Amino acid sequence: MGRPVVIGNWKMNATIHQAGLLASAIRNSVSDVNGVQVVLCPPFVSVQEVSNSLQGSGLKVGAQNMHHQEKGAFTGEVSAEMLKGLVTHVILGHSERRRDFNETDDLVSLKAQMALIAGFQPIICVGESLSERQEGRAEEVISTSIKSSLSGIGPGSDFVVAYEPVWAIGTGEAATGSQAQDMCQLLRDCIAVVFDRETASRTSILYGGSVGPDNAAEFVSMRDIDGALVGGASLDAEQFASIVRTTALERVSSSV
Ligand code: PGA
Repeated sequence: MGRPVVIGNWKMNATIHQAGLLASAIRNSVSDVNGVQVVLCPPFVSVQEVSNSLQGSGLKVGAQNMHHQEKGAFTGEVSAEMLKGLVTHVILGHSERRRDFNETDDLVSLKAQMALIAGFQPIICVGESLSERQEGRAEEVISTSIKSSLSGIGPGSDFVVAYEPVWAIGTGEAATGSQAQDMCQLLRDCIAVVFDRETASRTSILYGGSVGPDNAAEFVSMRDIDGALVGGASLDAEQFASIVRTTALERVSSSV
C-alpha cells in the first residue's frame, strides 16, 4: 500500500488573494490530521501565495502542469526550473489537458522525466472515456496509457498515479468503489510490470472523479486506493478537510 495522499486540484479557479485564503483555511482545518500527505495545486499565478500560506505546515504545493522542455520559445508555458523551490509535485496528463491541449502519453512521459529531474513528484493521471468503457476497452486503455506514461522513468523514482475516469470528472457521477478498486489494482499491476512489485506496492494510487465528503470512504477503504485527487470539493475548505480526515481514518491506524 502506498502512502495516503489527498490532492486538491483547483483548476482555473480563485484569484491570488482567494487562493491564499483557501490555503490557510485548509491548513487550519486539517491541522489535527496525521499521516496523510496533503497537496494543494493552485493555478500558476497563485503558487507563490499558496506556498507562503502553507509555510511551516506539512502541506505541500503542486502545479497543475508544466512544459517538458528546459526553456525557450514556448509562449505562455512554464518550465520545471521556474517552479523549483515553489512546488514539490506536478499534475501531469490530466484529462482536461489531454482533451483541450492534445496531450498524449508520449508527452506525459517527457514531462514526467523533466519533473523528476527537477526533483518533483509527478502525479500521472490516466482514465478512460465513457465510450471506451462502454466498448469494454477501459482496461486496455488504462494499461497502455500508464505503461507509455511511465516509459523513460528510471527505477527508484517517486511518483503518484491517479485513476480518473473521464466520465466521472466534474459530473457528480463518481465511479463505484469496486470499479475504482479494479482499475487501481490494474494500475498497480502495470507498475509492477514496468518496474517491480516493490515499486508497485509503495506507489500511491489515487481515485479522482466527483469525490466528496459523502463518498470518499467508499474509495479510500479499498485495498488499492491510497487517497483521492479532488477537483470541485477541494475549493471548499470544510469539504476538502472532511475527505482528508476520512482518508486518515481509513488508511492511517494511528490517526486522530
Ligand atoms: P472533480 O475533479 O472532483 O471535480 O470531479 C477531479 C479532477 O479533475 O481531478
